[in-house]
Amino acid sequence: MDSFELNKIIAAILMVALLVIGLGKIADGVFYVKKPENPGYKVEVENQSTVTATQVSAAKTKIDIVALMAKGDVESGKKVFKKCAACHSIKKGGGNKIGPALYNVVGRKVGGLDDYKYSKALAAYGKEWTFEELNGFLLKPATYLKGTKMAYAGLRKEVDRASVIKYLNESGDTPKPLP
Ligand code: HEC
Repeated sequence: MDSFELNKIIAAILMVALLVIGLGKIADGVFYVKKPENPGYKVEVENQSTVTATQVSAAKTKIDIVALMAKGDVESGKKVFKKCAACHSIKKGGGNKIGPALYNVVGRKVGGLDDYKYSKALAAYGKEWTFEELNGFLLKPATYLKGTKMAYAGLRKEVDRASVIKYLNESGDTPKPLP
């Protein structure tokens, strides 16, 4: 076998390898299904009512935030957070999981982490995570921020929300004074 023939054989093997890789790439392209950013579908007309619902619940929660935050304690909040831990890290330097990392979340811009892909609902909200906002969101995430991809029903009990918010607040570099 001379080297010219050997070259042809090597070339043939390379061609086949490239073809296989190429086909794989094409198949990926054909069968790639883009997951919708928000589960379900959204009718644009609904936007108006989203804002109103948000404002209404924000207004509602604003009134009793002092009374609410008087309830609960950090230790109970740590226990409540077990319900969140499947999707969220809370330790300093903890990374994103299914949900964004929550260390320092109190006072942070809603949807504020650069390395997490938020739903449009959170990314476009434009507010900060105050005690009020957290209370409204954690009561019923899907209603408070329509289109959120946080698939969690919410914390119905006030004492649980107050406790977990206190725990979130303590899990940061500079905890905010309670209202
Ligand atoms: C099933 C997974 C899951 C559980 C359980 C869950 N979350 Fe989330 N959470 C998410 C996802 C996903 C997002 C991002 C939402 C979006 O982009 O719409 C999120 C977002 C958040 C945010 C906004 C953070 C930011 O950077 O703006 C907060 C605050 C939060 N979650 C708190 C909690 C707390 C507190 C609990 C427990 C009571 C909890 N979550 C339970 C998945 C979860």
